Formats: sequence, structure tokens, C-alpha cells
Amino acid sequence: MSAHRPPPGPVKFSSRLETGRALAEDVWSIFNVANLPADCINLGQGYMNFLPPEWVRTAAEEALKVVATNHYSHPKGRLRLREAIKKAYSPQLNRDLDVEKEILVTSGANEGQYSVFTAFLDKDDEVIMFEPFFDQYLPSVTFNDGKPVYVPLRPPANATGKFSSDDWKINPEELRAAITPRTKMIIVNTPHNPVGKVFTRAELELIADLAKEFNLLVMADEVYDRLVFDGKEHVRIANLPGMWERTVTVGSAGKGFAATGWRVGWLIGPEHIIRPTLAATTRIVFCSNSPLQEAAAVGLEEAEERGFFKKQLEEYTERRQVLTDCFDDLGIPYTNPEGSYFILLDISKVKFPEDYPFPESVLGRGRDFKACWFIAIEVGVSSIPVSEFYCIEHANIGEVYGRFAFCKDVDTLKRAAERFKKLKQYIV
Ligand SMILES: Cc1ncc(COP(=O)(O)O)c(C=O)c1O
Repeated sequence: MSAHRPPPGPVKFSSRLETGRALAEDVWSIFNVANLPADCINLGQGYMNFLPPEWVRTAAEEALKVVATNHYSHPKGRLRLREAIKKAYSPQLNRDLDVEKEILVTSGANEGQYSVFTAFLDKDDEVIMFEPFFDQYLPSVTFNDGKPVYVPLRPPANATGKFSSDDWKINPEELRAAITPRTKMIIVNTPHNPVGKVFTRAELELIADLAKEFNLLVMADEVYDRLVFDGKEHVRIANLPGMWERTVTVGSAGKGFAATGWRVGWLIGPEHIIRPTLAATTRIVFCSNSPLQEAAAVGLEEAEERGFFKKQLEEYTERRQVLTDCFDDLGIPYTNPEGSYFILLDISKVKFPEDYPFPESVLGRGRDFKACWFIAIEVGVSSIPVSEFYCIEHANIGEVYGRFAFCKDVDTLKRAAERFKKLKQYIV
């Protein structure tokens, strides 16, 4: 055999896949409806069990009837959608956004974020993320040769009942200590998945001051910006003094219009962030899907006039109430979210037999994986174990919680609440 010929067998895939937990069986596959009993109520994955609004779906159908909207769009995004984003966000960002230079439509928030990493990370550049973190951040950073650096949000010690997502705090010293000469970027997700935390102005000022002191880029992941409860103020870090220049704000039609499968998102920021990111996204996907961009544009154009976001928020408030009433009755500690659509339930006291027939995929993971599996089978409601959203060193913080998503219709949530009564017998 000639020396340069590799051994026979399957071609080896890239070592990149060995980073960012990309090859590990992900939590979504383990707790997938396909693996659970058919009648298990799915409060695990964060997608809705209801349709996008009818008038937005009609816009999608109409777009499919037009030749142009069945074909490639400009990589920046369809002009109609960029105009609609400009109209919706200019007042919120206190500036007249430029549709050519400051707005970029992406294939979901996710691909937009990936493109920012592609555009800005060099090998071993560090990206600070707060734990628990949205799990896609991790491979998105490592696939682009970056290095994730974790700073945990700290839950209150010894909570006995309901506590607020605001009680999850940043430790300022820990955050400062995480910054090194290689730090390039910090991700701030507000409202937060999975904690539901809506970062306060003071917290964002702290982050902003560090970003300015150390010349960091801020990725403001605000995909849940329309889901902020109880009149709490949603502060955009891009609006803080000196922050527009270093912030890219991330949005998602999937969250705003109950259309997570449409894969339409957007980035808003100064030209010097959007231009390189456009170069990256153009070479990754070229453009996002056209008909659903048109529909998302109609969504943003008409939402205010139709009172859509206000009504949607009321509906989510009711959905949240169904679960919080149920958890209050159970007397188990949980985080009352001020934003997004997740509740973290303390599952550390849920007792299960050690010899319970857990599947392989759950064994060897945190205790929360077992507890969530046990609850799914015995109570009939699925959730997501929260240690998945932590690095190994901090997984013990997440192990205490299961994440229950309330982006489901009220009937489903009421049925889940009924089933939760069964949980009491397993609490020690
Ligand atoms: C915090 C956060 N950021 C980004 C995303 C991705 O949004 P999209 O579906 O638009 O890609 C999600 C989706 O769950 C999320 O929770």
C-alpha cells in the first residue's frame, strides 16, 4: 500500500464534531416525544402546540402564490421584512434603523448567532456565557474555534417555595474574573431561557461597563422580548450609553409568532457588526427562506394595530398561572419567571427507586436526568433536565431543576396540572 493512502473504512469525520458536545446524545433527543409514552404531556421542548396567528399563516399562503417569493431573497433579507423590522424596532432602540446596513435577516436566531461567531471569532477567542445557557451557544462557539467561558447565575440558597427569576443573580466578582486578554464577546440572554430572568438595568449596566472596559462585543439574545410579564421593564443593553456600537441584538419570528419551524430571525446592530456577519451568513445559507420572510413581515407590520403582542402576553400570563397555581399547591420550590415561557421546578426532593428501569441514555448523567425521566413516566409530564445547560464543573447547580415549558394551550397545561397531583407522593 502506498504511504499516502489512508486505511480502508469509513472516512473519518472532522474533529470539530468532538467539540461543543456535538456528538453526545443531546437532551432533546433523549426527552423526545418519540422516546416517551404516547400519552405523556410534552412540556419539555420549547415549541408551541398551537398554530401561528391565522392572518400570519394567510400571508404565508399568499407568498407561495407569487413567483418572486418562491425564489432566492437578498442575503440581507427581503426588503419588506427589513422595513417591518425597522418600523417595529426603531422606536425601541431609539434610532432610525438603516435597513441596508443595520438589519440582517437570518435563518432563525440560531443561524444569525452562528454567523456572528463566524464573523468575529478567531482561534481560542473566548465567549462568556451565563449558565444555564441556551445549549446551541456551545457548539456554535466551538465550531467557530472559539472557547466558551461559563459564569453561573446563582439561585437563592435554601428557597422553600416560590421565588422570582430575579433572585437568580450574577456574582460581579465572578464575572470580572472570567474576563481574560482572549475574551472577545459576552452573550446576554434576556428574557432568559431557561430561568425566565429579565435582567435589570443595574445588571445590564454592570455588564455594559465591563464590555466597555475590556472592549468586548455583546450579543444581546432577546428572542423572548415580547414575553415579559407583570409590567417588568425589558431593558435593551444596546440602549445603554456607549453600547449601540458594540451590541448585536438578536430577534426571532419563531418566538414572536408561534412559528419556531419557520426559521426566520434577525440581527440588529451597527454596520461594523452587521457587514462582516452578512459576509458570513451569505456563505453559510446564502439567504433565508423567502415566503416565510414575507409572512413574518406581515406579522410585524400588523401586530401593533391588531393588539397581537398584548393579547399574546395575556395568554402566556394565563398559561404561566396554571402551572404556578399547581406548583404552589404542591408546595415545591420553583422559579416564577418574569419573562420567556419556562418554569424551573426544584426536583431535588423527588424520590425514585435506584433500580428504576432508566434507559441507557439517562444513566451516567446528572440526577436531574433520572428525576425528569421518572416524572415523565410516572406522572406523565415531560420536562428538560437543567444540568444540560451547564458545564461539568457547575452541573450541580442545574441538577436541582427540571424545566417545564408553558408555551402550550391552557387545556394541555390544566391536564398537566391534574397529573402533577401524583407527584406529591414521590416527594420526600
Ligand atoms: C435563548 C434562545 N436564543 C435563541 C433561540 C433560537 O431561536 P430560533 O428558533 O429563532 O433559531 C432560542 C430557541 O429556543 C432560545 O431559547
